[in-house]
Amino acid sequence: MTATVQEETQDRYAPADPSGLPRHVAIIMDGNGRWAALRGLPRTEGHRNGVKTVRQIVRRAGELGIQYLTLFAFSSENWSRPHAEVKFLMGLLRAYVRSDLKDLRESNVRIRVIGSRDGLDPGILSLLEQAEQGTADCTGLELVLAFNYGARDEMVRAVRQLSLEVARGGKQPEEITSADIESHLDTAGLPDPDLIIRTSGEQRLSNFLLWQAAYAEFYFAPMHWPDFDCSAFEEALSCFKNRERRFGGVGAAVST
Ligand code: IPE
Ligand code: IPE
Ligand code: MG
Repeated sequence: MTATVQEETQDRYAPADPSGLPRHVAIIMDGNGRWAALRGLPRTEGHRNGVKTVRQIVRRAGELGIQYLTLFAFSSENWSRPHAEVKFLMGLLRAYVRSDLKDLRESNVRIRVIGSRDGLDPGILSLLEQAEQGTADCTGLELVLAFNYGARDEMVRAVRQLSLEVARGGKQPEEITSADIESHLDTAGLPDPDLIIRTSGEQRLSNFLLWQAAYAEFYFAPMHWPDFDCSAFEEALSCFKNRERRFGGVGAAVST
């Protein structure tokens, strides 16, 4: 690898903030159903309480100066849940955007939605577009909502677009670079996540940001999402601070 490519690689992955704060935090908000079950409540109550956590964490991330926060809200596989739960989750997303958009805008939060928009209910689609357009000039935290998102689906869509460009003669297969792939992903233009947090004790990615997670640090919190508060969030951030990221190199201690 040439020195230039090496510098580019480090620039792409390394957190920009010298304080050790991750530039981009991505969260798999898991455990709502179990949180409710533990209390003898229907799963929907877990989801309802999960929205309260979303509000707290978004606010704290903004206050701390984190630049990008990605929240996994609904996966492309979550359609396989019981119809009533899916319907409830759709209603919750609608209610969240309707009730919080003004506050988010006032807090200078810019919203971006990733995931497939194909076949989405037109009402939800227009609300999501409204959220993106209504906050397009905000310059604070970028809140990325992964909705109807699955990394394999994202990659399939990217490959289809690239293949089309090749078939139309605009590009030769051997000219395809990783930057071309990135620019066709839903996350085009976003830095890769530095830190991926999953709540509820599960230790898997569940089809989340598979390409982008190449050099992410992982943090698995034992509590369910409705119990993940600001102090749990800050604990994850302080744990990240102590990680040594190497990006395939040998690390600071032996790099001279
Ligand atoms: C996360 O909580 C919310 C979504 C996936 C929408 P879950 O609903 O997955 O809760 P558990 O994992 O069943 O407890
Ligand atoms: C991942 O959680 C999806 C979201 C948090 C939206 P799941 O609860 O759907 O993942 P699995 O099924 O336990 O792997
Ligand atoms: Mg789950």
